[in-house]
Amino acid sequence: MIREKFDLSGKVALVTGSTRGIGKAIGDALEEYGAKVLRHNTKVCDLSDPAAIEAYFRGLEADGMLPDILVANASIQAKIPWTEFPMDEAQKELQVNFLATLRMFQLCYAKMKAQKWGRLIVVGSVNERRPHPDMCVYAATKSAQENLVRGIARQVAPEGITVNNLCPGVFCTDRNKECLADPVYGPKVKAAIPMHDYAMPEDAAGAALLLASDAGRYITGATIMVDGGLSLPG
Ligand SMILES: NC(=O)c1ccc[n+]([C@@H]2O[C@H](COP(=O)([O-])OP(=O)(O)OC[C@H]3O[C@@H](n4cnc5c(N)ncnc54)[C@H](OP(=O)(O)O)[C@@H]3O)[C@@H](O)[C@H]2O)c1
Repeated sequence: MIREKFDLSGKVALVTGSTRGIGKAIGDALEEYGAKVLRHNTKVCDLSDPAAIEAYFRGLEADGMLPDILVANASIQAKIPWTEFPMDEAQKELQVNFLATLRMFQLCYAKMKAQKWGRLIVVGSVNERRPHPDMCVYAATKSAQENLVRGIARQVAPEGITVNNLCPGVFCTDRNKECLADPVYGPKVKAAIPMHDYAMPEDAAGAALLLASDAGRYITGATIMVDGGLSLPG
């Protein structure tokens, strides 16, 4: 029965940045399908602080709550031309969007390997395919993450662990609500998307549920675009 393959009862899922936006919608979906979802945001553990990540995972381990499913969703982005991009801001984006993902993978791996079941899902961006001119650093961190997914996926595939990259296009969330509401910019963005509409956070939830569950057990090393066709050529 395919329906049963989506069941996540007994699984612990950590979704970073899951108090709002896409992360919240993914967390809600995994919860609806039976997972115990750990809600996370900057107050729970600031991913720009490597020591905070170590402490947070030590706490999870002590509580027997290391995740079976890790969704690395939280990210930061600054819109600044690359010629002026401050190095400290670039370091911070690298830390939150890439290094934190790598470290969290490492910290979940032993448990997943021992139980021969695990799911690592990173949330990428259509910027991997079409970098916004003022978000080159953000786009590069997302591309690095995608490459990491492919590198790790091949190695952990025999261990029942899948690793995938879920790539949103333009979603109406707090980070871009204001610019999408702009009477000139908003319609221009919609016109550029083949589906002529931007997405709502819950539009990413179905793909995440598939990747997190046994229904998606044969999908690994993949990048799944959830972008209304925005990354398509032409
Ligand atoms: N929205 C889009 O159009 C779009 C397009 C492509 C890709 N994406 C990707 O989709 C993911 C979710 O985007 P979104 O638009 O839903 O995000 P969002 O609405 O801006 O929410 C971001 C979430 O991440 C958390 N977060 C941010 N910085 C953090 C840090 N340093 N440490 C811990 N948590 C942190 C926030 O926590 P606080 O509430 O504490 O700030 C919040 O829960 C991101 O990876 C983004 O790059 C989004």
